[in-house]
Amino acid sequence: MTEPTDYSNLSTVYSHATDHVVTGGKGSELYTTDGKTLLDFTSGIGVNSTGHCHPKVVAAIKEQADKLIFSQINIVYNEPVAELCAQLKRVMPEALDTYFFSNSGAEAVEASVKLAKHATGKGNIIVLHGSFHGRTHLAMAMTTSKTVYRLKYPNLPPGIYVAPYPYAFASGRSEEDETAHALAELELVLSTQSAPEETAAIVVEPVLGEGGYLPISKGYLKGLRELCDKYEILMICDEVQTGFGRCGTMLAHEQDGVTPDIVTMAKGLGSGMPISGIAYKAELGKKWITGTHGGTYACNPMAAAAAAATIETLVDEQLVENAAERGAQLMAGLKKLQRNYPCIGDVRGRGLMIGVELMDGGAPDTELPGKVLKEVYQRDLLLLSCGIRKNVLRFVPPLVVTEEEIERGLSIFEEALEAATCI
Ligand SMILES: Cc1ncc(COP(=O)(O)O)c(C=O)c1O
Repeated sequence: MTEPTDYSNLSTVYSHATDHVVTGGKGSELYTTDGKTLLDFTSGIGVNSTGHCHPKVVAAIKEQADKLIFSQINIVYNEPVAELCAQLKRVMPEALDTYFFSNSGAEAVEASVKLAKHATGKGNIIVLHGSFHGRTHLAMAMTTSKTVYRLKYPNLPPGIYVAPYPYAFASGRSEEDETAHALAELELVLSTQSAPEETAAIVVEPVLGEGGYLPISKGYLKGLRELCDKYEILMICDEVQTGFGRCGTMLAHEQDGVTPDIVTMAKGLGSGMPISGIAYKAELGKKWITGTHGGTYACNPMAAAAAAATIETLVDEQLVENAAERGAQLMAGLKKLQRNYPCIGDVRGRGLMIGVELMDGGAPDTELPGKVLKEVYQRDLLLLSCGIRKNVLRFVPPLVVTEEEIERGLSIFEEALEAATCI
């Protein structure tokens, strides 16, 4: 028998934020083998929407495991997937009434692009600078949040073009001017690099995730919708990280008053069971040729049962509303800290997806995030960093997080800031 903590045969390609080994979790807390209780403000990078081991999700998984662990959707239908479709219909924009399921966020992005190619008969895709869409070769080609994701993986798929993501804090423009500037740059990509008649879709994260927890600027998605309609290009919102209540509404794009043609979903959808998918307009599906896409584990009954229970729990326990309220509390607390700590340049976000951008005078501070993380980890709070400028700390607590836990997290963060800036 190997020691239970022997990871010497585990691939070294995974990076690790901490050396903790966890044995369990409940709500916003994780329990380690050496007896620590960690306050988890990472949610497994936005996955544990209903918190760790929500009783309703656990019960749904147990019940399904007793009945049927797997059946293959190309061979037979299963009941949990019908239940999941019914739950999605309750919460998705009315127009997005058709669902395709897969396992990871990258697969959902791949599916959205494959659908867009069939539906439009066009091949190119425009993405926004700083986006993270996943680690498969196509998703990697669409990802520009950091060079490490593409490092030494040559020959990525062609046909991907990049336009700026509005970033008023970095450019120094007003939000309105930044929106106008970014939309003008997008038009420029269409007139100089990928002609509208060759562009199948434009893919956008309503809050830039890995790229810096940066909400899209006001008016951008409306402008993008108009542009897509004008040129018959599909609008895809990648809501892998922002979806399922994370941003204080069921989907983040709802706050911008637009309806995309395709939405990707994953992470928070399954509370930790691997499930992803896309929701799209039925009329697009008429052109998606049956048999040209799929996957062995698509519509997996265990994951579908967990996802159906997750949506039910989000609605019944008003966790989306909790995300908005606790998010406002966290934002107010961080903005208060900003007044006392000049290293905090910007506090921004939506719901429980909040970024703190650290500055050294007028320049991004790329050293400080690592120092602060070291300090919060020593105090048993889990946070992560992100950002194209390598200077953002991200707060992503589970949607079940309590008022007391937010206060606890804020006070640990303040202690860590104090300790890190004093070094
Ligand atoms: C917006 C977005 N899209 C796609 C992905 C890729 O998801 P996965 O890691 O499940 O493939 C992520 C992951 O962080 C993401 O944040």
